[in-house]
Amino acid sequence: MAKQIITVIPGDGIGPDIINATIKVLDKAGCNFEYEYADAGLVALEKHGELVPEETLALIKKNKIALKGPLTTPVGEGFTSINVTLRKQFQLYANVRPVLSFKGTKARYDNIDIITIRENTEGMYSGLGQTLSEDGMKAEAMSLVTREGAERIVTFAYETARKEGRKKVTAVHKANILKSTSGLFLKVAREVAQRYPDIESTEMIVDNCCMQLVMNPEQFDMIVTTNLFGDILSDLCAGLVGGLGMAPGANIGEDCAIFEAVHGSAPDIAGKNLANPTSVILAAIQMLEYLEMGDKAENIRRAITDVIESGDRTTRDLGGSHGTTDFTDAVLERL
Ligand SMILES: NC(=O)c1ccc[n+]([C@@H]2O[C@H](COP(=O)([O-])OP(=O)(O)OC[C@H]3O[C@@H](n4cnc5c(N)ncnc54)[C@H](O)[C@@H]3O)[C@@H](O)[C@H]2O)c1
Repeated sequence: MAKQIITVIPGDGIGPDIINATIKVLDKAGCNFEYEYADAGLVALEKHGELVPEETLALIKKNKIALKGPLTTPVGEGFTSINVTLRKQFQLYANVRPVLSFKGTKARYDNIDIITIRENTEGMYSGLGQTLSEDGMKAEAMSLVTREGAERIVTFAYETARKEGRKKVTAVHKANILKSTSGLFLKVAREVAQRYPDIESTEMIVDNCCMQLVMNPEQFDMIVTTNLFGDILSDLCAGLVGGLGMAPGANIGEDCAIFEAVHGSAPDIAGKNLANPTSVILAAIQMLEYLEMGDKAENIRRAITDVIESGDRTTRDLGGSHGTTDFTDAVLERL
């Protein structure tokens, strides 16, 4: 059988270190992938004069599966977010962000298992209607919610819930104030929920949801929501299980998927061998599950869980005193 080819984008800051760690883990687990490397982010801007070169887009399109490190989007005018660009270009409409408690971390909770399903191409991140008046006194942006987009993401959430044996889906919205956009999302979410009587459906206003997540997170199983709320809530969820170093994300479209860490390029610790590679390793586990390689995914999950629970060579953010390479070695030894 032909080898599965993965497009690998090491990215900026801590990206190359945590991506290299992950490739070592995939190889040691016997995944037998072939990798084609591509540039994006600041590193691409320096080498090729653009943040997302055509060659990178072509490789993602060809291989249909990419593993991506965090990318730095320069702040300021003229640069559209690279992640938003990739998600739109490949119609990666579903962003799947699971958080799971690991024993042995300094997290606030030890019983969290929540998946946030974030709509990834519409909402406040549609990029539409962004204007700033000439005198710099007035800025505008447009939020877009379509029936089709809402139905697609909510259906995706319920289908994922069924596949993963989840019991409850909570639609998060702000329909009391954002009556048109969030209102349409909620209306469609209620309609879709009717088609899944086997799964409990609840709804919650986003501000209350933030408080509930901090006070009583055990009540959540799956959350489905629009783009901006999903972005913020999923970072909040990461905070419940020990921080951004523990949070992976999958961007899923009809025929293409990009797997990544939820966090950014962490310039404060870049190049210091301090980054926790768990987030990208967990993203690689999502990739293996997507590729129906569940046995490999399970082996890697077991190895990383054991390292974190035993505290053997964990990184600083997990309460340890080791670096990326030591942590990775501890995982590799268990595979
Ligand atoms: N998916 C992406 O590519 C993505 C996502 C978010 C931000 N960004 C970009 O990243 C850059 C930096 O953003 P930021 O500083 O706001 O957020 P960040 O996520 O890079 O860092 C936030 C904090 O978390 C820590 N952290 C992040 N990942 C860690 C890891 N694996 N191990 C240990 N600690 C970790 C950092 O050291 C920092 O203190 C910006 O240019 C932003 O645009 C990219």
